[in-house]
Amino acid sequence: MKLLVCGGAGFIGSAFVRLRLSESRDELVVLDKLTYAGRRENLQGLEDDPRFAFVHAAIEDAEAVARTVTEHAPDAVVNFAAETHVDRSIAEPDAFVTTHAQGTYVLLEAARRHGLRYLQISTDEVYGSIDSGSFSEDSPLDPSSPYSATKAGADLLVGGYHHTYGLAASICRGSNNYGPRQYPEKLVPLMVLNALAGDRLPVYGDGQNVRNWLFVEDFARAIGVVLERGAPGEVYNVGGPDECSNLEVVRRILKLCDRDESLIELVTDRPGHDRRYSLSAAKVSALGWSAQTRFAEGLERTVGWYRENGWWWEPIRSGRYRDYYERQYGRSLA
Ligand code: NAD
Ligand code: TYD
Repeated sequence: MKLLVCGGAGFIGSAFVRLRLSESRDELVVLDKLTYAGRRENLQGLEDDPRFAFVHAAIEDAEAVARTVTEHAPDAVVNFAAETHVDRSIAEPDAFVTTHAQGTYVLLEAARRHGLRYLQISTDEVYGSIDSGSFSEDSPLDPSSPYSATKAGADLLVGGYHHTYGLAASICRGSNNYGPRQYPEKLVPLMVLNALAGDRLPVYGDGQNVRNWLFVEDFARAIGVVLERGAPGEVYNVGGPDECSNLEVVRRILKLCDRDESLIELVTDRPGHDRRYSLSAAKVSALGWSAQTRFAEGLERTVGWYRENGWWWEPIRSGRYRDYYERQYGRSLA
């Protein structure tokens, strides 16, 4: 299969590209706008592979997308491209609307015109918060932030294209991912880098919000399974094998980094903060997928990766990320 992988220079997209190059015969064309979160470093080592190509473009750029589809003639589009940080969506929602609404529309039109299979990568956040139990694919969408609301809008558009035009489109919704190459604005990498540096670890509210953790390689594998065996018009939830409160995540990270819990700082809560996310993975399991990495093992591997790959994160922490941190918390990193 030849895949057009939009947003393939990001955290999950690059894990998917790496996995497919090593475990399938797919050819992959990555189309990415290279926002602050999209980095060529994430694809380092793949450039010389004859089955890999890179196009620097935005998904909302209809001409660039049309040119890429004509030139590379893919069989399917896998769309990871997104703005992905909830805090940024609260501060600056514009790009979320452009990328998720206009960008998804442009890709769907290209897929429709050329008769391509289409897979939208989405998130558990479109269902909103759940106090107990887990969301299934039939649960109603109830998003609460500009991030999740625009992701939900994109999912509805994908469903509309399947229903109206018969586009062979599916949706894969993952729970919170963690692993190597995640931009250090998200909970796990932020806390790992702060702990390694001996900086304070800012935990929102009472730290009792719960997330359902999924190792990035497990999500990448599930996406491959849905692409190969999933049915058009269907949604597949990919829930991780373990859930954990934020405070517990942070405590585990401190332990893995040999740091004291006195570094934990409870800070002002995120506005509209969802209490708990949880997805059932029953439907994707029926396709033959199961998570291979439990949270304890994946977290240890993740901390190990950040310890050993300072070249990847040092430029972020020293420059742009510091500016972002200062705006977000009103003070500098130690
Ligand atoms: P990321 O922020 O690391 O990467 C996003 C990528 O999309 C970057 O390479 C960026 O440059 C690119 N991009 C952004 N806007 C673009 C545009 N307009 N045109 C082209 N490229 C653009 O995100 P991620 O964590 O890898 O998430 C990938 C997808 O998975 C997203 O759709 C996200 O909603 C979904 N998802 C993420 C998680 C998670 O925990 N990170 C969980 C479930 C689902
Ligand atoms: P995040 O990684 O932003 O993912 P999401 O909001 O999409 O689940 O945050 C995960 C959880 O960690 C969420 O409950 C917010 C919390 N959090 C903190 O407590 N402190 C932080 O500095 C960050 C970035 C997140």
